[in-house]
Amino acid sequence: MKPSILVARAIFPAVLERLSEHFEVEANQKDEVFSPDELRQRLMGKQGALITGSARIHAELLQQLPELKMVANMAVGYDNIDLLACQKYHVMASNTPDVLNETTADFGWALMMATARRITESEHWLRAGQWEKWRYDSFLGPDLHGSVLGIIGMGRIGQAIARRSLGFNMRVLYHNRSRLSPEQEMAANQASYVSKEQLLRESDHVVLVLPYSAETRHTIAAAELALMKPTATLTNVARGGIVDDVALIAALREKRIAAAGLDVFENEPKFHPDFLTLNNVVLTPHIASASEKTRLAMAQRAADNLIAGLTGQRPPDLLTA
Ligand code: 8YV
Repeated sequence: MKPSILVARAIFPAVLERLSEHFEVEANQKDEVFSPDELRQRLMGKQGALITGSARIHAELLQQLPELKMVANMAVGYDNIDLLACQKYHVMASNTPDVLNETTADFGWALMMATARRITESEHWLRAGQWEKWRYDSFLGPDLHGSVLGIIGMGRIGQAIARRSLGFNMRVLYHNRSRLSPEQEMAANQASYVSKEQLLRESDHVVLVLPYSAETRHTIAAAELALMKPTATLTNVARGGIVDDVALIAALREKRIAAAGLDVFENEPKFHPDFLTLNNVVLTPHIASASEKTRLAMAQRAADNLIAGLTGQRPPDLLTA
């Protein structure tokens, strides 16, 4: 008998077909968003699950699912999974690293550039029929070329963002849990390791690419925003909750920083309604990894992990607590 799995959200049909060769699959191609209780009910009796960041996996849930052996997250970030609970209940967990590095770095740049050069704000103005004449001071923003780029979280995606800055002749500062090797720093456009405070004081454009955890919650709050230049931008392609959104809204409203680009929010897909009242923020719905090729690669990678884990092999991206 094939093991049975839940594919908790809609997925590429080709990936579903591949999973069906190995498993009895309960799919959700209508893409209903299950409540925690519905998720628990659907996971009952299943050996595996392919999930996304919106599914929370925690001790109380796992305790009720004695047959569950593996959860494969279709995301590199895994703050939705309690790894200690997985260890306790002997449930394997995996993520999808590497396949999204370059796509997410591209998007980080797109968002940072749109934010600095006021692309969406000016487009809204044009669409609203307000473009009557050219003005010397219309939509002025800070330059990217020749400026200082500050990257907080210098993992694989952070380094990919840094590499792209070479062509913009930028100086790169970074802050991270640990310092990179000299070779890695060289490859990351000669990035300099500095304290978070120095990075915030000296950067013209700050980009957040660090994983979310209890320790990184509100890495950027009122005190940190107060250190930034009034001309600086802040871009978040990491996770909601790394920024204190209420503090950011106040800083943007009072023009204590120039602008922000946000792909992630506290409590998404809900987000603080006051963001909609501000012109100096670019808002996107968590799409940094959303290229056709990369989303397919993420889904296949999650499937690879699930197939390995439920057929007696070690999942290539097995996570440990
Ligand atoms: C996903 C992400 O789209 O990989 C991650 O950590 O944030 C995104 O690429 C999202 O988490 C869906 O699971």
